[in-house]
Amino acid sequence: KQWIGPVSEVYSPVCFPTTDGFVRKLIGTYPICTEVEANDALEAAIAAYDNGRGEWPTMSVDGRIKCMERFIYKMIEQRTLVVKLLMWEIGKSYGDSAKEFDRTIEYINATIDALKALDRKSSRFEMAEGLIAQIRRSPLGVVLCMGPFNYPLNETFTTLIPALIMGNTILFKPPKHGTLLHYPLLRAFQESFPKGVVNTVYGRGAVVTPGLMQTGKINVLAFIGSSKVANDLKKRHPKINRLRAVLSLDAKNAAIVTKNADLHLAVSECVLGALSFNGQRCTAIKVIFVHKDVADEFLKLLSEEVSKLKFGLPWDRDVKLTPLPEANKTDYLTDIVNDAIANGAKVINENGGETLASFFYPAIVYPVNEKMKLYREEQFGPVIPVIPFESIEEPIDYQIDSPHGMQVSIFSNDASEISSLIDPFVNLVSRVNINSQCQRGPDVFPFTGRKDSAEGTLSVYDALRAFSIRSLVATKM
Ligand code: G3H
Repeated sequence: KQWIGPVSEVYSPVCFPTTDGFVRKLIGTYPICTEVEANDALEAAIAAYDNGRGEWPTMSVDGRIKCMERFIYKMIEQRTLVVKLLMWEIGKSYGDSAKEFDRTIEYINATIDALKALDRKSSRFEMAEGLIAQIRRSPLGVVLCMGPFNYPLNETFTTLIPALIMGNTILFKPPKHGTLLHYPLLRAFQESFPKGVVNTVYGRGAVVTPGLMQTGKINVLAFIGSSKVANDLKKRHPKINRLRAVLSLDAKNAAIVTKNADLHLAVSECVLGALSFNGQRCTAIKVIFVHKDVADEFLKLLSEEVSKLKFGLPWDRDVKLTPLPEANKTDYLTDIVNDAIANGAKVINENGGETLASFFYPAIVYPVNEKMKLYREEQFGPVIPVIPFESIEEPIDYQIDSPHGMQVSIFSNDASEISSLIDPFVNLVSRVNINSQCQRGPDVFPFTGRKDSAEGTLSVYDALRAFSIRSLVATKM
Protein backbone atom coordinates (compact mmCIF):
# COMPACT_ATOMS: atom_id res chain seq x y z
CA LYS A 1 0.00 0.00 0.00
CA GLN A 2 1.00 3.63 -0.35
CA TRP A 3 2.66 4.58 2.93
CA ILE A 4 1.51 7.86 4.44
CA GLY A 5 2.63 7.35 8.05
CA PRO A 6 5.94 8.24 9.74
CA VAL A 7 9.20 6.85 8.41
CA SER A 8 12.51 5.96 10.04
CA GLU A 9 15.66 7.30 8.43
CA VAL A 10 18.59 4.92 8.03
CA TYR A 11 22.07 6.39 8.40
CA SER A 12 25.07 4.35 7.35
CA PRO A 13 28.02 3.91 9.70
CA VAL A 14 30.10 4.87 6.69
CA CYS A 15 30.82 8.53 7.42
CA PHE A 16 31.76 11.36 5.10
CA PRO A 17 34.05 14.27 6.02
CA THR A 18 32.54 17.76 6.27
CA THR A 19 34.05 21.05 7.43
CA ASP A 20 32.80 20.25 10.99
CA GLY A 21 34.01 16.66 11.17
CA PHE A 22 32.16 13.62 9.85
CA VAL A 23 28.53 12.89 9.06
CA ARG A 24 26.78 9.57 8.64
CA LYS A 25 25.21 9.20 5.21
CA LEU A 26 21.44 8.85 4.87
CA ILE A 27 20.91 5.71 2.79
CA GLY A 28 17.18 5.15 2.94
CA THR A 29 13.95 5.27 4.87
CA TYR A 30 11.40 2.71 5.93
CA PRO A 31 7.89 3.03 7.33
CA ILE A 32 7.32 2.78 11.07
CA CYS A 33 4.36 0.59 11.96
CA THR A 34 1.86 1.98 14.40
CA GLU A 35 0.56 -0.41 17.03
CA VAL A 36 -2.61 -0.83 14.93
CA GLU A 37 -0.62 -1.80 11.84
CA ALA A 38 1.55 -4.22 13.82
CA ASN A 39 -1.63 -5.77 15.13
CA ASP A 40 -3.01 -6.06 11.57
CA ALA A 41 0.14 -8.03 10.65
CA LEU A 42 -0.43 -10.30 13.65
CA GLU A 43 -4.08 -10.84 12.66
CA ALA A 44 -2.94 -11.74 9.12
CA ALA A 45 -0.58 -14.39 10.55
CA ILE A 46 -3.35 -15.72 12.81
CA ALA A 47 -5.81 -15.85 9.89
CA ALA A 48 -3.29 -17.69 7.69
CA TYR A 49 -2.68 -20.23 10.47
CA ASP A 50 -6.44 -20.52 11.06
CA ASN A 51 -6.06 -22.72 14.15
CA GLY A 52 -3.93 -25.14 12.19
CA ARG A 53 -6.49 -25.46 9.37
CA GLY A 54 -4.90 -22.93 6.98
CA GLU A 55 -3.42 -23.76 3.61
CA TRP A 56 0.15 -23.53 4.93
CA PRO A 57 -0.03 -25.60 8.16
CA THR A 58 -1.96 -28.31 6.34
CA MET A 59 0.26 -28.37 3.26
CA SER A 60 2.31 -31.54 2.71
CA VAL A 61 6.02 -31.49 3.56
CA ASP A 62 6.75 -31.80 -0.17
CA GLY A 63 4.56 -28.79 -0.91
CA ARG A 64 6.28 -26.68 1.72
CA ILE A 65 9.68 -27.70 0.41
CA LYS A 66 8.68 -26.66 -3.12
CA CYS A 67 7.69 -23.20 -1.86
CA MET A 68 11.01 -22.89 -0.04
CA GLU A 69 12.96 -23.91 -3.15
CA ARG A 70 11.13 -21.24 -5.13
CA PHE A 71 12.10 -18.75 -2.44
CA ILE A 72 15.79 -19.72 -2.61
CA TYR A 73 15.78 -19.17 -6.35
CA LYS A 74 14.25 -15.71 -5.99
CA MET A 75 16.52 -14.84 -3.06
CA ILE A 76 19.65 -15.62 -5.06
CA GLU A 77 18.48 -13.17 -7.73
CA GLN A 78 18.77 -10.43 -5.08
CA ARG A 79 22.28 -11.36 -3.89
CA THR A 80 24.14 -8.33 -5.25
CA LEU A 81 21.71 -5.84 -3.76
CA VAL A 82 21.43 -7.56 -0.37
CA VAL A 83 25.23 -7.83 -0.02
CA LYS A 84 25.58 -4.14 -0.93
CA LEU A 85 22.96 -3.20 1.68
CA LEU A 86 24.72 -5.30 4.33
CA MET A 87 27.89 -3.27 3.72
CA TRP A 88 26.10 0.08 3.80
CA GLU A 89 23.73 -0.62 6.67
CA ILE A 90 25.95 -2.37 9.21
CA GLY A 91 29.44 -1.67 7.85
CA LYS A 92 30.27 -5.37 7.36
CA SER A 93 33.19 -5.98 4.97
CA TYR A 94 32.43 -7.22 1.46
CA GLY A 95 33.93 -10.64 2.24
CA ASP A 96 31.88 -11.09 5.41
CA SER A 97 28.70 -9.71 3.82
CA ALA A 98 28.99 -12.14 0.90
CA LYS A 99 29.70 -14.93 3.39
CA GLU A 100 26.60 -14.00 5.41
CA PHE A 101 24.43 -14.20 2.31
CA ASP A 102 25.91 -17.47 1.02
CA ARG A 103 25.85 -19.07 4.46
CA THR A 104 22.15 -18.23 4.66
CA ILE A 105 21.42 -19.92 1.35
CA GLU A 106 23.39 -22.97 2.55
CA TYR A 107 21.40 -22.90 5.79
CA ILE A 108 18.09 -22.94 3.92
CA ASN A 109 19.25 -25.83 1.71
CA ALA A 110 20.49 -27.74 4.76
CA THR A 111 17.14 -27.10 6.47
CA ILE A 112 15.32 -28.64 3.51
CA ASP A 113 17.56 -31.73 3.69
CA ALA A 114 17.08 -31.97 7.45
CA LEU A 115 13.31 -31.73 7.06
CA LYS A 116 13.31 -34.55 4.52
CA ALA A 117 15.29 -36.71 6.95
CA LEU A 118 13.10 -35.74 9.91
CA ASP A 119 9.96 -36.46 7.92
CA ARG A 120 11.23 -39.91 6.96
CA LYS A 121 11.98 -40.60 10.60
CA SER A 122 8.83 -39.15 12.12
CA SER A 123 6.19 -40.28 9.65
CA ARG A 124 6.53 -43.89 10.70
CA PHE A 125 4.03 -45.98 12.60
CA GLU A 126 4.63 -47.20 16.13
CA MET A 127 2.76 -49.98 17.84
CA ALA A 128 2.34 -50.55 21.57
CA GLU A 129 -0.26 -51.96 23.92
CA GLY A 130 -2.86 -52.60 21.22
CA LEU A 131 -2.52 -49.18 19.62
CA ILE A 132 -1.03 -48.20 16.28
CA ALA A 133 0.14 -44.60 16.16
CA GLN A 134 1.20 -42.40 13.31
CA ILE A 135 3.72 -39.91 14.66
CA ARG A 136 3.85 -36.48 13.04
CA ARG A 137 5.73 -33.24 13.41
CA SER A 138 3.15 -30.47 13.78
CA PRO A 139 3.51 -26.67 13.81
CA LEU A 140 2.92 -24.52 16.89
CA GLY A 141 1.11 -21.44 15.53
CA VAL A 142 2.34 -17.87 15.11
CA VAL A 143 6.06 -17.30 15.59
CA LEU A 144 7.48 -13.82 16.24
CA CYS A 145 11.04 -13.74 14.84
CA MET A 146 13.54 -11.04 15.72
CA GLY A 147 17.22 -11.09 14.73
CA PRO A 148 20.21 -8.97 15.78
CA PHE A 149 22.05 -6.23 13.86
CA ASN A 150 25.32 -8.16 13.56
CA TYR A 151 23.75 -10.90 11.41
CA PRO A 152 20.55 -9.16 10.31
CA LEU A 153 19.96 -11.63 7.51
CA ASN A 154 21.57 -14.88 8.64
CA GLU A 155 20.49 -14.95 12.28
CA THR A 156 16.98 -13.75 11.50
CA PHE A 157 16.68 -16.58 9.02
CA THR A 158 18.10 -19.21 11.39
CA THR A 159 14.78 -18.99 13.23
CA LEU A 160 12.43 -17.69 10.53
CA ILE A 161 13.22 -20.40 7.95
CA PRO A 162 12.84 -23.48 10.20
CA ALA A 163 9.76 -21.98 11.86
CA LEU A 164 8.25 -21.33 8.45
CA ILE A 165 9.05 -24.67 6.85
CA MET A 166 7.50 -26.52 9.80
CA GLY A 167 4.13 -24.96 8.89
CA ASN A 168 3.99 -22.07 11.35
CA THR A 169 3.02 -18.58 10.23
CA ILE A 170 5.49 -15.78 10.79
CA LEU A 171 5.59 -12.29 12.15
CA PHE A 172 9.00 -10.87 11.64
CA LYS A 173 10.64 -7.64 12.80
CA PRO A 174 14.00 -6.83 11.22
CA PRO A 175 16.66 -5.26 13.46
CA LYS A 176 16.99 -1.47 13.49
CA HIS A 177 20.38 -1.68 11.75
CA GLY A 178 19.62 -4.17 9.02
CA THR A 179 16.07 -3.40 7.91
CA LEU A 180 16.60 -2.11 4.38
CA LEU A 181 18.42 -5.24 3.25
CA HIS A 182 15.24 -7.24 3.85
CA TYR A 183 13.25 -5.20 1.33
CA PRO A 184 14.52 -6.99 -1.80
CA LEU A 185 13.44 -10.27 -0.18
CA LEU A 186 9.88 -9.28 0.70
CA ARG A 187 8.62 -9.81 -2.84
CA ALA A 188 10.40 -13.18 -2.89
CA PHE A 189 8.43 -14.20 0.22
CA GLN A 190 5.21 -12.86 -1.29
CA GLU A 191 5.69 -14.78 -4.53
CA SER A 192 6.79 -18.03 -2.88
CA PHE A 193 4.37 -18.59 0.02
CA PRO A 194 0.60 -18.36 0.49
CA LYS A 195 -0.83 -15.00 1.53
CA GLY A 196 -0.45 -14.05 5.19
CA VAL A 197 2.20 -16.69 5.94
CA VAL A 198 5.14 -14.26 6.27
CA ASN A 199 4.32 -10.81 7.69
CA THR A 200 6.76 -8.01 8.43
CA VAL A 201 6.51 -5.27 11.04
CA TYR A 202 8.83 -2.28 10.99
CA GLY A 203 9.85 0.29 13.51
CA ARG A 204 11.40 0.51 16.94
CA GLY A 205 11.18 -2.87 18.67
CA ALA A 206 10.36 -1.13 21.95
CA VAL A 207 7.26 0.40 20.34
CA VAL A 208 5.82 -2.41 18.24
CA THR A 209 6.78 -5.68 19.88
CA PRO A 210 5.59 -5.28 23.51
CA GLY A 211 2.01 -4.74 22.26
CA LEU A 212 2.24 -7.86 20.10
CA MET A 213 3.35 -9.94 23.09
CA GLN A 214 0.61 -8.46 25.29
CA THR A 215 -2.09 -9.84 22.98
CA GLY A 216 -1.13 -13.32 24.20
CA LYS A 217 -1.54 -14.51 20.60
CA ILE A 218 2.14 -15.17 19.90
CA ASN A 219 2.85 -18.89 20.31
CA VAL A 220 6.64 -18.80 19.96
CA LEU A 221 9.12 -16.01 20.58
CA ALA A 222 12.26 -16.55 18.48
CA PHE A 223 14.64 -13.83 19.55
CA ILE A 224 18.36 -13.30 19.09
CA GLY A 225 19.68 -10.25 20.92
CA SER A 226 20.07 -8.98 24.46
CA SER A 227 18.86 -10.89 27.54
CA LYS A 228 17.24 -7.73 28.92
CA VAL A 229 14.97 -7.21 25.90
CA ALA A 230 14.13 -10.93 25.70
CA ASN A 231 13.11 -11.06 29.38
CA ASP A 232 11.04 -7.93 29.04
CA LEU A 233 9.20 -9.34 26.02
CA LYS A 234 8.57 -12.69 27.66
CA LYS A 235 7.13 -11.08 30.79
CA ARG A 236 4.58 -9.16 28.75
CA HIS A 237 2.96 -12.33 27.46
CA PRO A 238 -0.16 -12.88 29.61
CA LYS A 239 0.13 -16.67 29.30
CA ILE A 240 3.88 -16.92 29.74
CA ASN A 241 3.66 -20.61 30.64
CA ARG A 242 2.23 -21.36 27.23
CA LEU A 243 4.82 -19.33 25.35
CA ARG A 244 7.67 -21.29 23.83
CA ALA A 245 10.88 -19.25 23.63
CA VAL A 246 13.90 -19.88 21.44
CA LEU A 247 16.48 -17.34 22.50
CA SER A 248 20.14 -16.64 21.88
CA LEU A 249 21.39 -13.92 24.18
CA ASP A 250 24.30 -12.24 26.01
CA ALA A 251 27.71 -13.83 26.35
CA LYS A 252 31.17 -13.12 27.73
CA ASN A 253 33.22 -15.95 26.21
CA ALA A 254 36.65 -16.51 27.73
CA ALA A 255 39.81 -17.77 26.05
CA ILE A 256 42.24 -19.54 28.39
CA VAL A 257 45.86 -19.61 27.29
CA THR A 258 47.87 -21.98 29.49
CA LYS A 259 51.66 -21.97 29.79
CA ASN A 260 51.69 -25.06 27.52
CA ALA A 261 49.95 -23.32 24.64
CA ASP A 262 51.30 -22.77 21.15
CA LEU A 263 51.32 -18.99 21.53
CA HIS A 264 51.33 -18.23 17.80
CA LEU A 265 48.23 -20.36 17.28
CA ALA A 266 46.56 -18.95 20.41
CA VAL A 267 47.20 -15.39 19.24
CA SER A 268 45.88 -15.87 15.70
CA GLU A 269 42.73 -17.64 16.98
CA CYS A 270 42.18 -15.06 19.72
CA VAL A 271 42.47 -12.21 17.21
CA LEU A 272 39.98 -13.90 14.89
CA GLY A 273 37.71 -14.67 17.83
CA ALA A 274 37.91 -11.21 19.40
CA LEU A 275 37.93 -9.00 16.33
CA SER A 276 36.00 -10.62 13.46
CA PHE A 277 33.33 -8.08 12.50
CA ASN A 278 34.94 -5.76 15.07
CA GLY A 279 34.07 -8.09 17.96
CA GLN A 280 30.34 -7.62 17.34
CA ARG A 281 29.41 -11.31 17.64
CA CYS A 282 27.75 -13.09 20.54
CA THR A 283 30.38 -15.79 20.08
CA ALA A 284 33.31 -13.35 20.10
CA ILE A 285 36.10 -13.95 22.61
CA LYS A 286 35.39 -11.17 25.10
CA VAL A 287 38.03 -11.83 27.73
CA ILE A 288 41.39 -13.64 27.63
CA PHE A 289 43.01 -15.40 30.60
CA VAL A 290 46.72 -15.93 30.04
CA HIS A 291 49.12 -17.79 32.35
CA LYS A 292 51.45 -15.27 33.98
CA ASP A 293 54.58 -17.18 32.85
CA VAL A 294 53.73 -16.59 29.18
CA ALA A 295 51.81 -13.32 29.51
CA ASP A 296 54.60 -11.00 28.25
CA GLU A 297 55.27 -13.05 25.15
CA PHE A 298 51.55 -13.51 24.47
CA LEU A 299 50.84 -9.77 24.75
CA LYS A 300 53.76 -8.91 22.44
CA LEU A 301 52.51 -11.33 19.78
CA LEU A 302 48.91 -10.20 20.26
CA SER A 303 49.82 -6.52 19.72
CA GLU A 304 51.82 -7.41 16.59
CA GLU A 305 48.95 -9.43 15.15
CA VAL A 306 46.40 -6.69 15.84
CA SER A 307 48.64 -4.09 14.18
CA LYS A 308 48.52 -6.13 10.94
CA LEU A 309 44.73 -5.88 10.60
CA LYS A 310 43.62 -3.55 7.87
CA PHE A 311 41.23 -0.72 8.73
CA GLY A 312 38.91 0.66 6.09
CA LEU A 313 35.53 0.89 4.46
CA PRO A 314 33.47 -2.28 3.93
CA TRP A 315 34.30 -2.49 0.23
CA ASP A 316 38.08 -1.97 0.60
CA ARG A 317 40.23 -4.93 -0.38
CA ASP A 318 41.25 -7.26 2.52
CA VAL A 319 39.71 -4.94 5.10
CA LYS A 320 39.20 -6.47 8.56
CA LEU A 321 38.15 -3.54 10.75
CA THR A 322 35.23 -1.39 9.66
CA PRO A 323 32.95 1.38 11.05
CA LEU A 324 30.58 0.51 13.91
CA PRO A 325 26.84 0.86 13.16
CA GLU A 326 25.48 1.60 16.64
CA ALA A 327 25.22 5.30 17.48
CA ASN A 328 27.49 6.35 20.39
CA LYS A 329 29.26 2.97 20.38
CA THR A 330 32.71 4.57 20.18
CA ASP A 331 31.84 6.70 23.25
CA TYR A 332 30.75 3.59 25.15
CA LEU A 333 33.95 1.74 24.27
CA THR A 334 36.09 4.75 25.20
CA ASP A 335 34.29 4.93 28.52
CA ILE A 336 34.77 1.25 29.34
CA VAL A 337 38.49 1.45 28.46
CA ASN A 338 38.92 4.61 30.55
CA ASP A 339 37.24 2.90 33.48
CA ALA A 340 39.83 0.10 33.26
CA ILE A 341 42.66 2.64 33.06
CA ALA A 342 41.29 4.48 36.11
CA ASN A 343 41.42 1.16 37.97
CA GLY A 344 45.02 0.37 37.11
CA ALA A 345 45.07 -1.21 33.61
CA LYS A 346 46.87 0.01 30.51
CA VAL A 347 46.15 -0.06 26.79
CA ILE A 348 49.22 -1.93 25.64
CA ASN A 349 49.02 -1.66 21.84
CA GLU A 350 49.96 1.35 19.75
CA ASN A 351 46.92 3.47 18.78
CA GLY A 352 44.66 1.18 20.87
CA GLY A 353 41.34 2.89 21.67
CA GLU A 354 41.77 5.75 19.19
CA THR A 355 38.60 6.83 17.41
CA LEU A 356 37.76 8.49 14.12
CA ALA A 357 34.08 9.10 13.34
CA SER A 358 32.48 5.63 13.73
CA PHE A 359 35.84 3.78 13.77
CA PHE A 360 37.37 2.44 16.96
CA TYR A 361 40.91 1.12 16.85
CA PRO A 362 41.11 -2.18 18.81
CA ALA A 363 42.39 -1.76 22.35
CA ILE A 364 44.22 -4.53 24.24
CA VAL A 365 43.68 -3.77 27.92
CA TYR A 366 45.94 -5.34 30.57
CA PRO A 367 45.86 -6.38 33.39
CA VAL A 368 42.09 -6.47 33.89
CA ASN A 369 40.60 -7.23 37.31
CA GLU A 370 37.18 -7.51 38.95
CA LYS A 371 37.03 -3.79 39.84
CA MET A 372 36.70 -2.90 36.16
CA LYS A 373 33.53 -2.89 34.06
CA LEU A 374 35.40 -4.79 31.36
CA TYR A 375 35.74 -7.77 33.69
CA ARG A 376 32.07 -8.78 33.37
CA GLU A 377 30.37 -6.41 30.95
CA GLU A 378 29.83 -7.64 27.40
CA GLN A 379 31.65 -4.97 25.39
CA PHE A 380 30.42 -6.23 21.97
CA GLY A 381 33.15 -4.31 20.20
CA PRO A 382 36.90 -4.19 19.46
CA VAL A 383 38.26 -4.16 23.02
CA ILE A 384 40.31 -7.13 24.29
CA PRO A 385 40.57 -7.43 28.08
CA VAL A 386 43.43 -9.68 29.20
CA ILE A 387 43.68 -11.19 32.71
CA PRO A 388 46.87 -12.89 33.99
CA PHE A 389 46.35 -16.08 36.03
CA GLU A 390 48.51 -18.36 38.14
CA SER A 391 46.18 -21.24 38.97
CA ILE A 392 43.70 -22.73 36.51
CA GLU A 393 41.11 -22.44 39.30
CA GLU A 394 41.00 -18.68 38.54
CA PRO A 395 39.38 -18.90 35.06
CA ILE A 396 37.20 -21.79 36.29
CA ASP A 397 35.96 -19.63 39.19
CA TYR A 398 35.40 -16.75 36.76
CA GLN A 399 33.14 -19.00 34.70
CA ILE A 400 31.33 -20.36 37.75
CA ASP A 401 30.50 -16.82 38.90
CA SER A 402 29.59 -15.60 35.42
CA PRO A 403 25.95 -14.83 34.60
CA HIS A 404 26.70 -16.16 31.10
CA GLY A 405 27.50 -19.62 29.79
CA MET A 406 27.96 -19.68 26.04
CA GLN A 407 31.49 -20.84 25.08
CA VAL A 408 35.15 -21.00 26.11
CA SER A 409 38.35 -21.60 24.14
CA ILE A 410 41.22 -23.50 25.74
CA PHE A 411 44.72 -23.21 24.31
CA SER A 412 47.24 -25.86 25.33
CA ASN A 413 49.51 -28.39 23.66
CA ASP A 414 49.44 -30.72 26.64
CA ALA A 415 46.85 -33.45 26.06
CA SER A 416 46.42 -34.32 29.73
CA GLU A 417 46.00 -30.66 30.66
CA ILE A 418 43.34 -30.30 27.96
CA SER A 419 41.41 -33.34 29.12
CA SER A 420 41.54 -32.19 32.74
CA LEU A 421 39.95 -28.88 31.67
CA ILE A 422 37.19 -30.20 29.45
CA ASP A 423 35.00 -31.55 32.27
CA PRO A 424 34.97 -28.44 34.47
CA PHE A 425 34.11 -26.19 31.53
CA VAL A 426 31.75 -28.36 29.53
CA ASN A 427 29.28 -28.27 32.42
CA LEU A 428 29.54 -24.49 32.74
CA VAL A 429 29.16 -23.45 29.08
CA SER A 430 27.57 -25.06 26.04
CA ARG A 431 30.68 -25.44 23.89
CA VAL A 432 34.36 -25.89 24.69
CA ASN A 433 36.73 -25.09 21.82
CA ILE A 434 40.16 -26.67 21.93
CA ASN A 435 42.93 -24.67 20.28
CA SER A 436 40.42 -22.70 18.25
CA GLN A 437 38.30 -19.57 18.53
CA CYS A 438 34.69 -19.55 19.77
CA GLN A 439 32.09 -19.69 17.01
CA ARG A 440 28.54 -20.76 16.19
CA GLY A 441 29.13 -22.89 13.11
CA PRO A 442 29.09 -25.17 11.31
CA ASP A 443 25.31 -24.79 11.37
CA VAL A 444 24.74 -28.53 11.73
CA PHE A 445 26.26 -28.29 15.24
CA PRO A 446 23.94 -27.43 18.14
CA PHE A 447 24.10 -23.79 19.13
CA THR A 448 22.92 -22.87 22.61
CA GLY A 449 24.11 -21.55 25.97
CA ARG A 450 23.63 -21.86 29.71
CA LYS A 451 22.38 -19.31 32.28
CA ASP A 452 21.60 -15.95 30.62
CA SER A 453 23.10 -16.95 27.29
CA ALA A 454 20.29 -18.93 25.66
CA GLU A 455 17.02 -20.77 25.88
CA GLY A 456 16.43 -23.62 23.45
CA THR A 457 18.88 -24.89 20.87
CA LEU A 458 19.46 -23.90 17.27
CA SER A 459 21.08 -25.86 14.44
CA VAL A 460 19.55 -27.00 11.20
CA TYR A 461 18.17 -30.09 12.99
CA ASP A 462 17.42 -28.67 16.44
CA ALA A 463 15.55 -25.67 15.03
CA LEU A 464 13.06 -27.89 13.20
CA ARG A 465 12.30 -29.58 16.50
CA ALA A 466 12.17 -26.26 18.38
CA PHE A 467 9.40 -24.94 16.11
CA SER A 468 7.20 -28.04 16.15
CA ILE A 469 5.83 -30.74 18.43
CA ARG A 470 5.58 -34.46 17.97
CA SER A 471 1.89 -35.22 17.71
CA LEU A 472 0.25 -38.50 16.85
CA VAL A 473 -2.86 -40.19 15.61
CA ALA A 474 -3.43 -43.39 17.63
CA THR A 475 -5.87 -46.07 16.47
CA LYS A 476 -7.03 -49.09 18.44
CA MET A 477 -6.05 -52.29 16.65
O1 G3H B 1 26.41 -13.07 17.14
C1 G3H B 1 26.19 -14.26 17.32
C2 G3H B 1 26.36 -15.21 16.22
O2 G3H B 1 25.64 -16.38 16.53
C3 G3H B 1 27.79 -15.50 15.92
O3 G3H B 1 27.91 -16.38 14.86
O4 G3H B 1 30.10 -17.40 15.45
O5 G3H B 1 29.11 -17.70 13.19
O6 G3H B 1 30.02 -15.50 13.88
P1 G3H B 1 29.36 -16.76 14.34
